[in-house]
Amino acid sequence: MKNTSYKVLVLGSGGREHAIVWKLTQSEFLHSLYCIPGNGGISKHAKIESSIKLNEFEKIYEFIKENKIDIVIVGPEQPSVEGIKDYLSQYKIPVFSPTKIQAQLEGSKIFAKKFMKKYNIPTADFVVAENYEQAKSLLKEMFSKYKDGIVIKADGLAAGKGAVVCNTLEEAENTIYEMMIKKIFDKAGEKVVIEKKLNGIEISVIAFCDGETILPLTYSQDHKQIYDGDKGPNTGGMGAYSPVPFVSKILEEKIYSQIINNFLCGIKDSQIGYCGVIYFGLMIENLNTQPQPYVLEFNCRFGDPETQVLLPLLKDDFLQLVIHTINKNLHNFSKLSFENKYACCVVLASKGYPLEYETSKEITGLDEAEKISDVLIFHAGTKKIDNKFLTSGGRVLNVVGIGKTLQEAINTSYRAVDKIYFENKYFRTDIGKKGLIYDNI
Ligand SMILES: Nc1ncnc2c1ncn2[C@@H]1O[C@H](COP(=O)(O)OP(=O)(O)O)[C@@H](O)[C@H]1O
Ligand SMILES: [Mg+2]
Repeated sequence: MKNTSYKVLVLGSGGREHAIVWKLTQSEFLHSLYCIPGNGGISKHAKIESSIKLNEFEKIYEFIKENKIDIVIVGPEQPSVEGIKDYLSQYKIPVFSPTKIQAQLEGSKIFAKKFMKKYNIPTADFVVAENYEQAKSLLKEMFSKYKDGIVIKADGLAAGKGAVVCNTLEEAENTIYEMMIKKIFDKAGEKVVIEKKLNGIEISVIAFCDGETILPLTYSQDHKQIYDGDKGPNTGGMGAYSPVPFVSKILEEKIYSQIINNFLCGIKDSQIGYCGVIYFGLMIENLNTQPQPYVLEFNCRFGDPETQVLLPLLKDDFLQLVIHTINKNLHNFSKLSFENKYACCVVLASKGYPLEYETSKEITGLDEAEKISDVLIFHAGTKKIDNKFLTSGGRVLNVVGIGKTLQEAINTSYRAVDKIYFENKYFRTDIGKKGLIYDNI
C-alpha cells in the first residue's frame, strides 16, 4: 500500500455502511469508492454491485481484481466471522477486519466470556452449558444464586436475537428448550452461556484497534427495543445519540483501566491479536452512586446505528485511520478528535419490523429533509429505481441531526423525520431522552 490515493471497497448494505461510505468521500486519500452489495443511498457515492452476496468470497475477490481495489473495509460481522480477512489475505489484499479467530470475540459468546474472565474484564458471572441436560441443571443452580433473573445466550451468531433475559425459571427452561432442542438458531444455539442478569444503563464503546494501540471513539447509546420507553422486542437498533452526557470521569477511568487496557493486554498475551474495530457493549450498574461498567458483549465491527452518529462528529481522516490500523501504525494518532457537538439518529422503519415487514413503498421528501442544515440522511433498506427511492428493508432510513446540545440535535433530527414520507413509516419518538436527563448544557 504505497500509493497515496486508494480504491476502496466497502462490504455491506445498511445505514452503517452508508455512513462509512459518506465519511470516506471526505478523505484526501480516496481515489474511488465501490460497495457490495450497497443500497439506494450508497449508490450516490459509490459504484455498487448488488448481485454479489457477502458470503461469496470468490466473487468478491474477482470484483477486487477486476476493479484493482486497494483496500477492503468490512461493515457487518458475518463476513469477518466467516473469515473474509483470512481468505483475501492469501491474495495479499489489505482488509480492514479482524481475522476469523479474532472475530470469535463476537462469533462465540463462550469464547468471549472465557476471554473476559481470563483477563479480568468485568462481566456478569456465568456458566457454560454444552448440552440440554447440563443446561437444565445449571439453570436451577444459577436461579438459586441470582433470584433477580438470568440471561441465556446462544453461543453463535443469531442476528441479534440470541440473548434472552429470563426473570423466572419457567421462562429460562422454555428458552433452552427452544434453543437446544427445537434449535431455533440452528447450530448457533447448540451451546449456551447462562449468566447473571445485570441492572443498569447500556452504552456502546467503539474503538479502532491494531493489536498494539486502541483508540476509542466518543461514547454512544443505542435504542434496541422497537417501542418508546424501551418496550417491545429487540431490533437491530431504532436510534442512537452521541456523546453520552452521563459518562463521568470516575466511570471513564474504570472503562479505560478495567476494560480497554485489559482487553489490549488480553489480545497481546493470548496472541489472538486484533485488527479493525472492537465494540464493547457495556452495562453500567449504580450509575449515580458507584458506577461500575460490565461488558455484555464484544462486537467485531462498528455498531449500527451508532456509526451514523459517531462518524459525523469525527474530525480525523477516516481512511487514514483505516490504513494505519491495517498497517499497525495507529500509534501515529495519540487521540481521536471530535466536533464539540451532539448527534442524534432516528431510524425510520417499515410497518411490521422487527417481524415480517412491508416493502416497495415509495419514499418522498428526502430532498426537503436533506436541505435542513445540520441534517444527514443515511439509507439502510432502500433501493433506487427510475430515480425514485423505494423501501426494501425493515430499517429504511437513518435521519441524523447535529446540534450544539443534545436537545438541539434531537429537535433537528425529528424536524427532518417529519419531512420524509412513506406509507406506514414507523419510528420511536423518544430517541436521546435517556441522555437528556443528564444534559446540563
Ligand atoms: N447480563 C445481562 N444482564 C442484563 N441484560 C443483558 C445481559 N446480557 C445481555 N443483556 C441484554 O440483551 C441484549 C443483547 O445481548 P448481547 O450480549 O448484546 O447479545 P447480542 O447483541 O448478540 O444479541 C443487551 O443489549 C442487553 O439489553
Ligand atoms: Mg448486542
